[in-house]
Parts: sequence; structure tokens; C-alpha cells
Amino acid sequence: MTNQDALKQLVGQEAVKFIKDGMIVGLGTGSTVKFMVDALGKKVADQHLSIVGVPTSKRTKEQANHLDIPTKDLDEVDHIDLTIDGADQIDKNFQGIKGGGGAHLWEKIVAINSTKNIWIVDQSKLADQLGSFPLPLEVIPYGSHQLFQRLVARGFNPVFRMINNQYVTTDSNNYIIDLHLHQIKDPQNLALTLDQMTGIVEHGLFLNIVNTVIVGQENGPKVLQV
Ligand code: A5P
Repeated sequence: MTNQDALKQLVGQEAVKFIKDGMIVGLGTGSTVKFMVDALGKKVADQHLSIVGVPTSKRTKEQANHLDIPTKDLDEVDHIDLTIDGADQIDKNFQGIKGGGGAHLWEKIVAINSTKNIWIVDQSKLADQLGSFPLPLEVIPYGSHQLFQRLVARGFNPVFRMINNQYVTTDSNNYIIDLHLHQIKDPQNLALTLDQMTGIVEHGLFLNIVNTVIVGQENGPKVLQV
């Protein structure tokens, strides 16, 4: 295991301490969350907890079910107590970029339906300003090349996410366009602009979602609050 993976594993284990018996828990997506779900599976089995997970992707659902963590779809629950998710970049005000794994649409829907949200990251994700990590957009395939040109015209440096010359598709069968912005001076304003562009289903700016971030550091996980 790499040093970075070891930090991710430690924050994952730290995060499950926030999960109590009887909770309905949103389960994020990504390599850090994968460690958290592993730790949750162990906790549920060891302590015979009654937990329901609400996965934010097909891959997280598969992992949870494999570990015998019961799951429900979002529309099968009446609330979510807590969602634990990763992030790609977090600024000093706990505003974030997500979607590096292409799951930010479901992640955002689960997050806004959660009473509390916690992000778990290794220390490399913290930044003074957002934008050095490309900002993912989930877009409807129909007309996506026209949308792409509108993003070019705005100077957003869009790039379709491709693997082996194929479009990456999301769990909702949409495409991903990454904006290589380098710096985002005004995340709120950019979010408003993107919200208004037809064809974009959801962008990866997660603003005012969390007030707790657990950071994996060399000297152990640190819980930060704003
Ligand atoms: C999934 O689309 C993302 O939002 C992830 O939560 C984010 O990319 C963090 O993933 P890692 O923990 O793998 O860095």
C-alpha cells in the first residue's frame, strides 16, 4: 500500500466513528470512501449494527452489498443522517470540487438530502484556491458538442473525458466534460453560470455542503470544522 493509500485508510477508519447504530448513511464514491466502506463493513459485522447505506454510485453499492451492509436507494428512505464522501479539492472555506470519479451528480443529490456531510481526504486535497483540479461537468450526450463549443467560447478550456477513445459515461449514462480552469476566483459566480447552461446536468462545485473535513496527515487523521 502506498503512503497516500495508508492516509486514506486511516481517515476512512476515523470517519466510521461518526456512524452510530440505527443511522441511515450516505456512502460516497472514490478510493478514499472505499477504505471507509471497508471499515464500515467490519464495524457493522463486529458490533451487529443496524445501518442502512445509501450509495452514491453503482460501484459503492456493489462494495457495500459485498460486505453485507444493507443499502437502499435514495427514494426508499425518508432521510439520511450523515453522508461521508471524498473530495478532489477543498479550499480554506470548505468549498469543494468533486467528480474526479464521475459520480458527482448522485453525490450532490445525496449530499443535499443529508442532515450532515463529512468529507474525508488526504492532505494533498487541501488548497488555498480551487481550480488546479479540473472541474467536472456531467452533461447530456445530446448536443454535447454544441455545449462544448459554448464552453470554449467562455474560455473554460473544456475537455471531454475519454478512455481508450470512448466517452466516459456516468451511472446516469451521461458524458463528463472537465474544465481546465487552473484557478477559480469566484466559485459562487461560476456555479451560477454553469447552473444556467442548458445541457449541463450538474457541475462538480460543492458549495456550502460540509462543515466537517477529516484530513489524513502523517501524524494521524485530523478533524477540521468551520
Ligand atoms: C467521485 O466522482 C468523486 O467526487 C470522489 O468523491 C472524489 O473524486 C474523491 O475520490 P478519491 O477519494 O478517489 O480521491
